[in-house]
Amino acid sequence: MPLLNILRYPDPRLHKVAKPVTVFDARLKQLVRDMAETMYEAPGVGLAASQVDVHEQLLVIDTSDAQDQLQVFINPEIIWASAEKKVYDEGCLSVPGVYDDVERPAQVHVRALDVDGKEFTVEADGLLAVCIQHEMDHLKGKIFVEYLSPLKRNRIKAKIIKEEREHQRDKGKLAAR
Ligand code: NI
Repeated sequence: MPLLNILRYPDPRLHKVAKPVTVFDARLKQLVRDMAETMYEAPGVGLAASQVDVHEQLLVIDTSDAQDQLQVFINPEIIWASAEKKVYDEGCLSVPGVYDDVERPAQVHVRALDVDGKEFTVEADGLLAVCIQHEMDHLKGKIFVEYLSPLKRNRIKAKIIKEEREHQRDKGKLAAR
């Protein structure tokens, strides 16, 4: 199974809005497997299809310590969110090396479909609630750094672009040998 390429902020493709999944076929199952493998390899606790340049409403999440409890959410909807909020130090596979505080509802109830198109609901709190909301933002084309101040966001953008440039230059040096 191939590992998928994870788009990095500020790639404009990360801001595309994902469409609902309508076909529950072998292609979808393969995509879920590839996304799960990519997430575990990274390693991360969640990955949205938007991050691998597939603009469909699909998330894979595993917040278990042993990383052996994969959860798949297709066309997820938040049907209830607590008034109580919580701040969590979030990170993102599309914004490597950057962590910052984001405030979100502490608990959410989510309705989604599984890989066979069957509906289920999850009552989430703690890290799972954070992760579901963070990944669902990706489907709307929103990255967690957009919750931060413009000053912080611009600093992050500049840092990533600089790293990317250095990485490209190193690759060029290797190729020239
Ligand atoms: Ni993310």
